[in-house]
This record gives sequence, structure tokens and C-alpha cells, in this order.
Amino acid sequence: MERINAVITGVGGYVPNYILDNEEMSRIVDTSDEWIMERIGVKTRHILKPEQGSGTSYLMTRAVKQLLEKTQVDPDSIEAVICATTTPDYHFPSTASLVIGNLGLKNAYGFDMEAACAGFLYALEQGASLITSGRHKRIILCGGDHMSSMTNYQDRNTCPIFGDGAACVLMEATTEELGLMDSYLRVDGTGYEHLHMAAGGSAQMPSHESVDQRLHFVYQEGRTVFKNAVTKMSDAVETIAKRNGLDKDNIAWVVPHQANIRIETAVARRIGLDESKVMINVDHMANTSGGTLPLCLWEYEPQLKKGDKLIFTAFGAGFSWGASYLIWGYDGAAEAAKSPAEFYKEGTISREEWNEKRGVH
Ligand code: UT7
Repeated sequence: MERINAVITGVGGYVPNYILDNEEMSRIVDTSDEWIMERIGVKTRHILKPEQGSGTSYLMTRAVKQLLEKTQVDPDSIEAVICATTTPDYHFPSTASLVIGNLGLKNAYGFDMEAACAGFLYALEQGASLITSGRHKRIILCGGDHMSSMTNYQDRNTCPIFGDGAACVLMEATTEELGLMDSYLRVDGTGYEHLHMAAGGSAQMPSHESVDQRLHFVYQEGRTVFKNAVTKMSDAVETIAKRNGLDKDNIAWVVPHQANIRIETAVARRIGLDESKVMINVDHMANTSGGTLPLCLWEYEPQLKKGDKLIFTAFGAGFSWGASYLIWGYDGAAEAAKSPAEFYKEGTISREEWNEKRGVH
């Protein structure tokens, strides 16, 4: 029997149209464009304002809607929707159930996956398992976060880092040698004290005190997280490259979690990869947590070619991290060209502007 692989066959995305730049950020906390650019590499981030909408389902619903429009697949053929997010609309029901309901997907079930910034990486592996087991043929994987909902805009150590956004991929069964080939995923459980949101869960229920102490926001000890992120993402990329015969000459793209430009370039340096082969959008998207990997695919889609070898890597709370090797399934330029032009109408920026920004012509 032929081996079934799980291949990505389409990408959709959405970012809200409010842009919070460093100039505005420096009026909120004691910081500067210079510091943020030098230490993080973020110029602007998209923020979902309450008057526009709320919840990660708002972002994901729009991303999936665009994916369905672009790919023209029958919505009734979608069998499952997995949403990787740390900012679900509610503890329950799941964000996936809201997205499915909003889009009227009649034959799908769905669930959320919480693995912080590594969420989409894990979703790729879980989604591929559903497909390669033979149980499903067509599913959607979403990654995204409404990070501004848990960002403390009184803490200059964290607030410049985060932005809001979501993107998704269509994953389908194929017998071609395409799709997710290998994953190396890990959690070590040592990360709580360095990166967490203390209250609001079952360990520390919401109370007047927890609100007064601002415990419903991200707490991060930046330096420790930084060091772990560089080491663990680099190790994971090296491991996955070595065991699949990949090197700087045959890797088309590394798709790293977008936490800090210095982390991404350090990972590229470690495997001797030219920085032009590293997808980067942290400069104008910031860290969208579960959204960073699929948002990279969304923006770089026109440059992706069938057969391109991609390595994804991410690191987040837990600590959780890893790397995956995937062979890209279609010619992105052709797909982008035949997509309706208006699919960017809800974003702030046109396809032409994206391309201009990224030097794609
Ligand atoms: O997505 C999940 C994974 N997350 C990450 O991977 C994030 C990893 N961490 C980082 O990206 C960086 O550690 C940060 C961007 C969070 C911080 O950069 P850093 O270079 O590690 O700065 P630091 O925390 O060591 O702080 C250096 C100095 C401090 O001042 P002193 O104590 O040296 O006088 C901070 O108070 O910079 C100060 N500082 C700022 N100054 C201006 C911290 N935040 C700011 C700010 N503006 N926004």
C-alpha cells in the first residue's frame, strides 16, 4: 500500500487593522524605538481593538474564511479544525467550536491545543497524525493569539514584544512525497517560573486580589527565556536537519517562531544558513505566539515552490520547543496569483505591499 503523507495545500491569514508603532508604545511605557529595534527588532504590531472585535476566534474565523475563499474547497469537506492558541476566547467552549460555528462547517469537529508559542508546531504534528492514520483526508490547522488581551501595558519588559494575529493551513492526504516528514518535539517542565500567566486558571482562580496584583498578564523573565530559546531551537533544528540529510544547501527555508530578531538570526548562524533563507515578519507583526509560524507562511506563500524543504522551529512557555521538517506541496506564486485580489481587504496591507516589503516581485 502506498504511504499516505499530510501536505499543506493552502494558507489563509488575518491581522487586525490597528497598528501600534514604537512611537505610540513609547508614550505608553518608558521605552524608545531605538531600544525596541536594537533589542527585539519590532517596529510595529497589529492590535485587535475592542471596538473592532474580541477574542482569538475573531482572528481565526477571518483567517479560515480567507483560506476557504482562496482554495475554493467545499467547506462541508472539512473534517476537523485544530486551533493552537494560548488566548482562547473562553476556558470553554473551545475556540475551534466558535470558528466552526461562525463558518457553518457542517461536517467538522474541532478542539484547541495549548502549547504557548510552540502550539502551531505541535498542531502540525497532531494534524499530520490524523491524516497519515488514514482517518481523515482534509483538515484545517489554525495558529493565532489575541496577545494584547494578556499583555501588561504597564510592563515595558513585555509589552513591546507582542502583537495580535492568526493564520491557518489546509492539510490534506497525498501519496506524493510531500508534506510533514519528521518532527522533534520536547517539553521539559522547567519554564513556569520564567514565563507564565499566574492567575485565572484552576491553580489561582480570579479574585479581586489577582486583578489588583495584575496576575492575569504575561510574566516573562526575558534573559532566561532568550538563552533557552536560542539553545533549544538551534539544537532542535540541528537534530532534525541531521537525521533527514538536510543542510544549508538543500534547505529552502527555516520558519522560526518570531519572538526576537536576535533569536532568529542566532538560529540561522548556528546551522550556517544564509539569513535570506529565514522567514522573518517579527519587524511588522511582533510575537503573535501561536500565530507566528502560519503567519510567516501566509506572507511568504508567493515565494514557496513545490518541493521546497522547510524546517519549522519554535520555543515557548513550559518550556516547550522543537523542530519539524516539511516538504512544501504547491507553487505558492501561482496559487497567490489566482486568488481573488480582495482577499486582503480586511487586512491593513495589500498583497502588493506585502510583496514590496519582502522584496518579492
Ligand atoms: O515567545 C516566547 C518566547 N519568548 C522569547 O523568546 C523572548 C525572549 N527574550 C527576549 O526577547 C529579550 O530578553 C527581551 C526582548 C524580553 C529583553 O531584552 P534583553 O536584551 O534581554 O533585555 P534585559 O531584560 O536584559 O534588560 C536590559 C535593560 C534593563 O535595564 P538595566 O537593568 O540593565 O538598567 C531593562 O530594565 O533594558 C531595560 N529594558 C528596557 N529599556 C527600554 C527592558 N525593557 C525595556 C524597554 N525599553 N522596553
